[in-house]
Amino acid sequence: MPVISYDAIPYEGTAVEASHPRRLAALGRLFGVEAPLPSNARILEIGSAIGENLCAIAAGLPGALCLGIDNAPRQVELARGTAARLGLRNVRFEALDISDAGPGLGTFDYIIAHGVYSWVEAPVRDRLLEVCGELLSPGGIAFVSYNCYPGWHLRQPLRELMVFATRNVRAPAGQLVGHARAMAEIVVRTALDLEARLPGGPLYARVLARELEFIAERPDDYIAHEHLEPTNVPVYFADFVAHAARHRLQYVGDAWPLRMALPDLASDVAAEFESLAPDQVEREQLLDFVHGRTFRESLLCRRGIQLERPPRPGRLRGLALRLLGEFIAPGEERYDPALPKLVHPGGILALRDPDLLEAVRVLDAQRPAAVPAEELAASVGPRRFWQRTASKLLRLFFHGGLQLEVEPARPVATPGAMPRAFAMARDQARRDGTMPAALTHAVYDVPPLPLALLPWLDGTRTREDLARVIVEELAPRAEDDAVRAAGVSYATARVALAGALQWLAQRGYLEA
Ligand SMILES: C[S@@+](CC[C@H](N)C(=O)[O-])C[C@H]1O[C@@H](n2cnc3c(N)ncnc32)[C@H](O)[C@@H]1O
Repeated sequence: MPVISYDAIPYEGTAVEASHPRRLAALGRLFGVEAPLPSNARILEIGSAIGENLCAIAAGLPGALCLGIDNAPRQVELARGTAARLGLRNVRFEALDISDAGPGLGTFDYIIAHGVYSWVEAPVRDRLLEVCGELLSPGGIAFVSYNCYPGWHLRQPLRELMVFATRNVRAPAGQLVGHARAMAEIVVRTALDLEARLPGGPLYARVLARELEFIAERPDDYIAHEHLEPTNVPVYFADFVAHAARHRLQYVGDAWPLRMALPDLASDVAAEFESLAPDQVEREQLLDFVHGRTFRESLLCRRGIQLERPPRPGRLRGLALRLLGEFIAPGEERYDPALPKLVHPGGILALRDPDLLEAVRVLDAQRPAAVPAEELAASVGPRRFWQRTASKLLRLFFHGGLQLEVEPARPVATPGAMPRAFAMARDQARRDGTMPAALTHAVYDVPPLPLALLPWLDGTRTREDLARVIVEELAPRAEDDAVRAAGVSYATARVALAGALQWLAQRGYLEA
């Protein structure tokens, strides 16, 4: 079958939020690993592609030393170009195959391998974990992501169809993807037609149709390297953990802790789960069957470190908390002035406890910045905080309402007189089709005006200068209606500028 090399269609990627060492350090420390401080850590990214993730990390951690390796030389050149444009002296990119990586590279406090493990042949996959086992420093954390079962059982038919449909096609990489997409559409449409004629017919067509919808929203580089990649081998989580153990590594936790915890189940069901699967790995594997999980981002540390499960609330000491949810506002459904509620990625939390409410209010007011646990404790009262509130915040964390960080980034909530955006985001915004990284390492689909403004926000321009940029530079060349409308006059530009800066500030793109 034809192989689309990463040099023919580079994997665009962007920052991988959960892979940032600030997050890895926090999760490690929460579970009892003495993870090194990110600010002067040594960081290795394996399969660093065009360097978007590692450059964003290096730009935010000037004291850290970063090395990215990838065996696609053109991608390495692109990564070096980004680092050079940003003037980063703390990151290097090398064209190196995983099979040739070894102790000569030194040891690393954080090793990131996103989107590599399932996409390489078995010996390379094995070497990947072996390298993590060999190069990880004593308190180091590795972040490894992979496609997993059982969810991929449902995704596989469409991928296999696309591989089959292109097996004998000799065409440039871009056309191959187009051909594969067209074949997938024909097959799925036919399957749906047939199903419609057989009432109560097979679920199969609907499974295919769901996957077709999913790939329709994905760019060609994703399809090339997910659906047309000769190797895409999902694994069961428990098998991945067993593989890591063969390389003296143990599972710490999931990069998204919401996925580690039992959902809110009736107490008898929860008890049954616990008795069936007392061990963390077994329990998470069972949960993967519940959720039909397709992808995992797992954190590993060296074998022999005594992990604390579940972590005590005191483990929040030294960590900073960032709120992810939103209060239900007046006028919204479920609003009750007597009982404030927070909607967060894991559900809705009714804030009955006044101390918890106070802590969540402080976190909300400080956003997008994260608040050190000690500062939060001071606002609630340290004794009550550590005796009662910390355990509730820990629960909120495992339900998806909080993120934890060590040495958090410091985005500003209010744009200054001469606004300055994160250098990495400014660079990304100059290129087409990227999702710029915020200081928090989160990425967003930035609307047209804030996106067009980002490259100009280098801290040298006043708001008046920026309004002039909108009128004289951006609006005349804009294809987007909103950007053109913003530049109709200086008055419209000032108003639109204020809105755009606020949008960027709220999401953590602006620094002091
Ligand atoms: C799916 S991409 C993921 C890229 C990036 N980590 C991201 O998530 O955006 C896989 C990357 O691994 C690299 N790769 C594949 N096999 C490799 C090998 N044997 N040695 C080094 N890099 C490899 C590819 O060139 C590609 O950049």
